[in-house]
Amino acid sequence: MADLVGTGIEGLDELLNGGLPAGGTYALVGASGTGKSILSFQYLFNGITKFDEAGVYILLEEDKEPFARNISGFGWDLSALEASGKLACIPFTKSIVGDIEATFEKGALSGDTDRANQLRQYLTIDSLYEHIRESVERIGARRVVIDSMTVITLLSSSQLVARMQLLWLIQRLRRLNVTSIITIEEGIGYWRDTLFLCDGIIGVMLRERAGIFERGLVIEKIRGAGHDTGVRPLKIGQQGIRVYPHEVISPQR
Ligand SMILES: Nc1ncnc2c1ncn2[C@@H]1O[C@H](COP(=O)(O)OP(=O)(O)OP(=O)(O)O)[C@@H](O)[C@H]1O
Ligand SMILES: [Mg+2]
Repeated sequence: MADLVGTGIEGLDELLNGGLPAGGTYALVGASGTGKSILSFQYLFNGITKFDEAGVYILLEEDKEPFARNISGFGWDLSALEASGKLACIPFTKSIVGDIEATFEKGALSGDTDRANQLRQYLTIDSLYEHIRESVERIGARRVVIDSMTVITLLSSSQLVARMQLLWLIQRLRRLNVTSIITIEEGIGYWRDTLFLCDGIIGVMLRERAGIFERGLVIEKIRGAGHDTGVRPLKIGQQGIRVYPHEVISPQR
């Protein structure tokens, strides 16, 4: 049996019968605001603080400063973690867009179409992988998070291309010997039927009941391992996310 990588998230490792099988790529799927960024960062934070494993966080949707502010509420200090050499947080989109803006300023490009095409050209799975590889090797990371893959998919020219890109990325990540979480925005693009390529799928959700939203988490698939299949309550508190493995959220009506 594969070694297990503990998420360190209270309740989640119990649902996973110990943790995520090492070396895999796991999709964390949910709509906006369901806790994907918090959960995936907590996976890296716990890796550093509880398991002494370095981690790489690829930010695609946000810049580093607002992201650092958002997670500081949980007592997670992005700058201090990076200064310790155990975390590399890469604002991938920003670094690429910055390059394109610089090209614009030099007058090399002339319009919005050029800008969009440039973005598409640079925000590729190859450059994403190169950023990951460089960072993993630099800090000796064992864990990687890509938040979110949807940004890359939306730039893919077709569903076939999106599938090939994900397949290629999963294979390369496996060779890097890291255990990865990739977040995916529910309902945008055509990801659901591409996710079978991942080694596992964890769903996070918000469900309305009697006028109140309840948060939930379900493990949909983990290749080669038994796991819980209930929709368990997930709560976001001062220390981040906690899952309640012996409770279920109310059924949807
Ligand atoms: N300090 C906090 N305490 C409690 N809940 C919080 C706190 N900070 C954020 N939240 C909750 O977490 C939600 C955002 O979680 P997160 O950013 O992980 O979602 P996401 O799934 O990544 O969303 P998106 O798809 O938009 O990126 C907020 O909408 C809020 O409800
Ligand atoms: Mg997010």
